[in-house]
Amino acid sequence: KNIAIFASGSGSNTENIIRYFRKNEAIQVSLVLSNRSDAYVLERAHRLGVPCNVFPKEDWMAGDEILAVLQEYHIDFVVLAGFLVRVPDLLLHAYPNKIINIHPALLPKFGGKGMYGDRVHEAVVAAGEKESGITIHYINEHYDEGNTVFQTACPVLPTDSPEDVAKKVHALEYEHFPRVIERVLCGE
Ligand code: GRF
Repeated sequence: KNIAIFASGSGSNTENIIRYFRKNEAIQVSLVLSNRSDAYVLERAHRLGVPCNVFPKEDWMAGDEILAVLQEYHIDFVVLAGFLVRVPDLLLHAYPNKIINIHPALLPKFGGKGMYGDRVHEAVVAAGEKESGITIHYINEHYDEGNTVFQTACPVLPTDSPEDVAKKVHALEYEHFPRVIERVLCGE
């Protein structure tokens, strides 16, 4: 099975997932796509020997250019890891129930537009939440509302800063995301 990862940022989850499947015969990360030419994830993919490509915003609106590349690489499954662009309907229809996203909070709380990057952790702290966590879910036209695949929580202490929360959430991502992907792909 060939996975493509879409990422817009640093790519620590992308690196973690690539490394996890390196030893795996049945599953591999075959492609990394981004919407930003300065995204550090491209460095990581390059260093790890995974083909990567950048597409400008317009291409992410239409989707046909992207779909062509996914087909060229025989992609079976798409993983969003810190991807800040809406996936075009063309791709949603080409990959029904085959695109999952990770959200660094306990959806449905703290979901939706603008709740990405560390902003979500600031909102969690500001709201005085007792816990936060990660939600891995399928995506559909309404983005953060696709079916949840996996969710797990971490405590938020009154003394925690957004950075403290981010650190705990990242730890959950690195621990769980690759295994959840493996389970979804093997369970299919
Ligand atoms: C992660 O916290 C992820 O949950 C969120 O964006 C961040 C991506 O981090 N969607 P990285 O680019 O994988 O380091």
